[in-house]
Amino acid sequence: MQLQHHPYSSLPSLPSRTVSLFLYISCLMAAIAQIDSRPKLTSVKALAERPGLSSIPSLYTFPRHPNEEVFSDTKESIPILDFSLLTSTDPHERSKAIQELAKACQDWGFFMVTNHGVPESMMKGITAACREFFELTEEEKAEFEGKHVLDPIRYGTSVNASIDKVLCWRDYLKVFQHPEFHSPNKPPSFREISLEYGKRVRKVARDILRGISESLGLEENYIEKALNLENGFQLLTANLYPPCPQPELAMGFLAHSDHGLLTLLIENEIRGLQVHHNGKWVNIDPIPNSFLANIGDHVEILSNGKYQSVLHRAVVNTRDVRISIAMQHAPAWDAVVSPASKLVGDEGNLPAFRAMEYKEYLELNQSSVLDRKSCLERVRNRVI
Ligand code: OGA
Ligand code: NI
Repeated sequence: MQLQHHPYSSLPSLPSRTVSLFLYISCLMAAIAQIDSRPKLTSVKALAERPGLSSIPSLYTFPRHPNEEVFSDTKESIPILDFSLLTSTDPHERSKAIQELAKACQDWGFFMVTNHGVPESMMKGITAACREFFELTEEEKAEFEGKHVLDPIRYGTSVNASIDKVLCWRDYLKVFQHPEFHSPNKPPSFREISLEYGKRVRKVARDILRGISESLGLEENYIEKALNLENGFQLLTANLYPPCPQPELAMGFLAHSDHGLLTLLIENEIRGLQVHHNGKWVNIDPIPNSFLANIGDHVEILSNGKYQSVLHRAVVNTRDVRISIAMQHAPAWDAVVSPASKLVGDEGNLPAFRAMEYKEYLELNQSSVLDRKSCLERVRNRVI
């Protein structure tokens, strides 16, 4: 008589191995599912586009600092640097421009740059390419999600979303431009326009940094040589600030200073940048096609505190999508930055900051929650 086999027991040794393999895989999948079930960070763009969104999640709500009242009506004369005078062959024009640059750096740390020669079409082109990037699908953009400050292409939300306690109403794309050029492969126009725009803006930045060198009483090419700007780090940051139903509770970009030497920023026609000046926040209303320039922490270090990096932030609004493109110009990664020796020593001026490799500073900056100028404070020499 034939034995009736259970269909699954007809293969003598395989079943138990198959079952345990099956169990193992299901456990693994369950574990992965659990990791996946943690709330995923959505882009603010996706959040803002949710139908009927009328209030913002508490994760985006900032407590306000009562003393930081904003004013915009006061006629503050924001410094303007006429770039054509700074690069003029007429020594009188140039020295006048350098004096104005010195004053702008000392009083504000912020100024607008006009007559810089970068074509308007190029500024529009890069803004359009960045907008197209943010309009890719969430899945497409997710390919570019970077984790580390040294990843050459990094798409993300807020500022440092893994450690931020409150999230900023901002998505961003950061792309290294120099000394090695990188570009996302989407949208297709991005590579060509960012390469060209990056080169043109770098030239403007280097000329301004020559002016800054001279204005500090240093040789014209001091910064260039001491910080190896031939291999200088240039970083493009595209910021997207979607409309926000409760802009008074949210913040596009928290108060911070930029870590490099000089940032040149452009925006679409939508306002939102505020600069801290004499203890108050000033709304910036740019001259069309100008660059909004601000000096960063490394000018403060190099000048031994004579020029201070400026605190700035971005606010959001209920109606319009705001896009800004900040181009940061910084020392070469392996350049060791310290106060220029000519600016220390006399009049009892001690070096206010300790020497540090630029790359180390970048990593230090990334490892902590963005908090005004706290990163710079960590390299300040304490008077004992
Ligand atoms: C920045 C920045 C301000 C803005 O990208 O560092 O300060 O107006 N942006 O987007
Ligand atoms: Ni900034």
